[in-house]
Amino acid sequence: MGAVVGESVDEAIAAARSMLEDRTFGAAGNEVVVEEFMQGEELSVFALCDGEHAVQLLPAQDHKRIGEGDTGPNTGGMGAYAPVSIGTPALLDRVQREIFAPTLAALRDDDSAFRGLLYAGLMLTADGPKVVEFNCRFGDPETQVVLPLLEANLLAALLAVARGESVAGWEPRTLPGAALTTVLAAGGYPGSVRKGDPIAIPETVLARDDVVVFHAGTARSVSGGLVTSGGRVLAVTGIGDPLAEAGAKRRAAAAEIRF
Ligand code: GLY
Repeated sequence: MGAVVGESVDEAIAAARSMLEDRTFGAAGNEVVVEEFMQGEELSVFALCDGEHAVQLLPAQDHKRIGEGDTGPNTGGMGAYAPVSIGTPALLDRVQREIFAPTLAALRDDDSAFRGLLYAGLMLTADGPKVVEFNCRFGDPETQVVLPLLEANLLAALLAVARGESVAGWEPRTLPGAALTTVLAAGGYPGSVRKGDPIAIPETVLARDDVVVFHAGTARSVSGGLVTSGGRVLAVTGIGDPLAEAGAKRRAAAAEIRF
């Protein structure tokens, strides 16, 4: 796969055509997809859907580059926070009307009514919110900030969806304050990483109710100890008010974890 960027669609197509003629992309260049280059801030909005209704959870924003200051290669996601100031009620109403409602209606019309968690990855462009991608799952690491702030009973709502019941009227109330998470990655990530390094998480971190440590690339060694087993090892979420306090708590907790 390769990407060609142009000032206009015609320019991008001309550049792609010349690369195809040169076989720059080999067999991967047999198919060309032309996409709009969208500029703006990203917003991740999860909605629990029962085929007809979409109930939105608190929107979150994730950050994908490996380095401080939004630098370096893209990753699966290095951190996230919620709530997001640009996710205003007016914007979320628009997302409901222009994105979730027509998407669910089109799927019903196609005899594919969607029941489950629909994740809309949005770009908030100057022309309004646009869909970058849909996923039929929770997002990572956005979920690590959305769920700690959720006050409502998620299990009951998930069970309702699984049983074919309606989610209309379910209110995913949120706690006051903010959550911010940082992924602790193994050295070398997003390239190849070493596995099997012992992980030490102090009891003082685990005992806190304003810090949550989520496991991702972890495993048990034969002797029962916790070891690294992937690139993104842990996500450490701080909960506080305001957001800066949540950030300070997760930073302090993350600094105590070793691997
Ligand atoms: N946060 C990006 C994803 O879950 O795909």
